Amino acid sequence: MLNLRDITIEIVKTAQETGAFILKESEKFDLSRTETKGLNDFVSYVDKGAEKMIVERLGHLLPEAGFKTEEGTIEKSGIRYCWVVDPLDGTTNFLHGLHPHAISIALMEYNEAIAGVVYEVGGNEIFTAWKDGGAWLNGKPIHVSKATNLASSLVATGFPYSDFTQLDEYMKLLTHLCKHSQGIRRLGSAAIDLAYVACGRFEVFYEYGLHPWDVAAGILLVREAGGSVSDFSGNEKNVEGEEIVAANSLVFREVLEIVSKFMKN
Ligand code: 2AM
Ligand code: CA
Repeated sequence: MLNLRDITIEIVKTAQETGAFILKESEKFDLSRTETKGLNDFVSYVDKGAEKMIVERLGHLLPEAGFKTEEGTIEKSGIRYCWVVDPLDGTTNFLHGLHPHAISIALMEYNEAIAGVVYEVGGNEIFTAWKDGGAWLNGKPIHVSKATNLASSLVATGFPYSDFTQLDEYMKLLTHLCKHSQGIRRLGSAAIDLAYVACGRFEVFYEYGLHPWDVAAGILLVREAGGSVSDFSGNEKNVEGEEIVAANSLVFREVLEIVSKFMKN
């Protein structure tokens, strides 16, 4: 039986060391060494260097665990445990010298997140959660907001940047939410969007076309902070970022109904 609190403390140490590396590199960043993985999908030597640091440290922490990482610097499967890692969520922000960007690390047990850390490097904010242990920001407990309806909600999303298959539906939904919420924000890091739902800064986050490493830690944060997460059809199991709606539990049903209505083809 793992001690999840102790594991989370070790993940935090890994995130802090890697965050120091990212900060140092950002001061002398060389944009010409950026590669393109796909349409608007960038990776720099900083993403890869950060991932290698994380993989090395987590590999020692739990040798039997596999890895699922954005940059694919390691191929290893685990039967029971798996680390899901985004060494730099918000790479496009990073490349433009913008915040936020974050390190996102989750430990999965049979496909369910049991520990998660999102470290917003520039603001030095560390969001942590472990299963049944609550959610925390820099060591203080956090909770989702108490807003009771969409009209009093600040909504975060990610605009489609590569997968435009649902762009029309997405724009219609965005129009509706512009008219019926307090406002929309687009930060450029899904891990941070979820962390901000967990601590009550945002009431709602939704996006499609994400990956497990963007959302695995953030989903645990939201749930442990009292919020709800599902795909666009309301399925709460195995949400891997392909479609995601997260909200405080008081507005979740109202928002899910609207999202599912607009995004259904
Ligand atoms: P990444 O930086 O780790 O790739 C927000 O929309 C999410 O999409 C982020 O978590 C980000 O993760 C990913 N993303 C990838 N390319 C993007 C782009 N060009 N613009 C915005 N987000 C992008
Ligand atoms: Ca990334």
